[in-house]
Amino acid sequence: NLNQAPQGDFMRPAARTRASSRAANGVGVQVEDTRICVVMVGLPARGKSLIAQKVVRYLGWLSITAKCFNVGSYRRTNTPQPSASFFDFTNKEGERLRKAAAEAAVTDMIKWFKSPNNLIAILDATNSTKSRRRWIKDRCDSEGIETLFVESKCDDEDLIMANIKEVKTTSPDYQGQDPEEAAKDFRERIRMYERVYETLDEDETDLTYCKIIDVGSKVIINRIQDYLQSRVVYYLMNLHIKPRSIWISRHGESMYNLSGQIGGDADLSPRGQQYAKMLPELVSKSAGDRTLTVWTSTLKRTAQTARYLPYEKLSWKALDELDSGVCDGLTYAEIEKQYPQDFAARDADKYNYRYLGGESYRDVVIRLEPIIMELERSENILIVTHQAVLRCIYAYFMGTQQEQSPWMEVPLHTLIKLTPRAYGTEEERMRADVPAVSTWREKGSKAVHSEVTPAGSPGLGGMVK
Ligand code: F6P
Repeated sequence: NLNQAPQGDFMRPAARTRASSRAANGVGVQVEDTRICVVMVGLPARGKSLIAQKVVRYLGWLSITAKCFNVGSYRRTNTPQPSASFFDFTNKEGERLRKAAAEAAVTDMIKWFKSPNNLIAILDATNSTKSRRRWIKDRCDSEGIETLFVESKCDDEDLIMANIKEVKTTSPDYQGQDPEEAAKDFRERIRMYERVYETLDEDETDLTYCKIIDVGSKVIINRIQDYLQSRVVYYLMNLHIKPRSIWISRHGESMYNLSGQIGGDADLSPRGQQYAKMLPELVSKSAGDRTLTVWTSTLKRTAQTARYLPYEKLSWKALDELDSGVCDGLTYAEIEKQYPQDFAARDADKYNYRYLGGESYRDVVIRLEPIIMELERSENILIVTHQAVLRCIYAYFMGTQQEQSPWMEVPLHTLIKLTPRAYGTEEERMRADVPAVSTWREKGSKAVHSEVTPAGSPGLGGMVK
């Protein structure tokens, strides 16, 4: 009986102390009893909010509970649409209100850290003076919270301008205003900050920091002290914010998909081969003349799907399908018959359920981490992979919750384009005109694979934060 399979900490109830929760938080290794406040530093329009939002999503994906505290949102409760003069350092009332917003954010953050699973907070603000940084550090020190200052320093005019346009003209601060006027006012706001801005420097040697210069072309790190801090810094060092897209597709329909068997290393079905032939056109319609690199798994069906694509290809073991252990080669109906309790256990907690001799979704996320790191470093990539792996990659970009991600529908013969934007990832789905079975199994069902025609394809995706 598969129920004798060790399920590790993952299947135990949540009543844990802070220290023991660290051991079971799913990062794949023991994380010591650390709480970190990541303090963003930098002038407006330097990509701080983008970085903050990505770090939260990345950590959440790794089951490390993180939350962003955006001081701007707190300030908007007292001053919803300030003009540039509000940020003038000689404006005493402006100064008072901005300090009050920072106070409120830090107080909420400290309260948030009282819960044992809450490990990393991001304090998203300019934090542009040494005195402000010292104040934050003192507040955190007195609560036993570590501080990691992350500065984005960038003088590239084009990048700043692009950021002003894309982010700030859509910001609630300028809602309903003329975008040209908004951009002008925002430039003025930046000028106000420039007058008092102090970059992290040598005389702040006691601070733990990571200074990212010109979007990663140079990175200076100081006093990184523990595993979690180095993990965050390593991620930050791999980020870039050049515009790009990532395309993901499952392999074409396989012979196993037709018979309803899971796992294995089957060849493509005739319809799967048809999809492979159509894929270059589908991709070029979406990618134009951009040069892509294609990543596949080491299983035949992905290489066969990618074979006609006129780009450089790389195959990764880490992209192989979730290992279903002793259930490899069975249909869902056979699993339910032979291992009824396991079948139910998987439905009850699909993310954490680990097949005997195989993997869970949580395991797949951990082995995908190097893939995510490499994806962040790269530009335009097309990944041809498998249902479970694709769900995990998709969840990273879209911030999908763990309870939902293993149940998401990712149909065969569908190309998904993901485009990271300042405040979320844009999604577009393109369905090839080749029918395929549906391999999606609804919770509680046996899933006899049904036929899905292109006409029955799901609608276009939207924008998800
Ligand atoms: O059915 C196709 C497949 O890729 C199997 O090889 C794999 O076990 C399964 O999908 C993963 O999906 P789920 O987690 O929904 O069973």
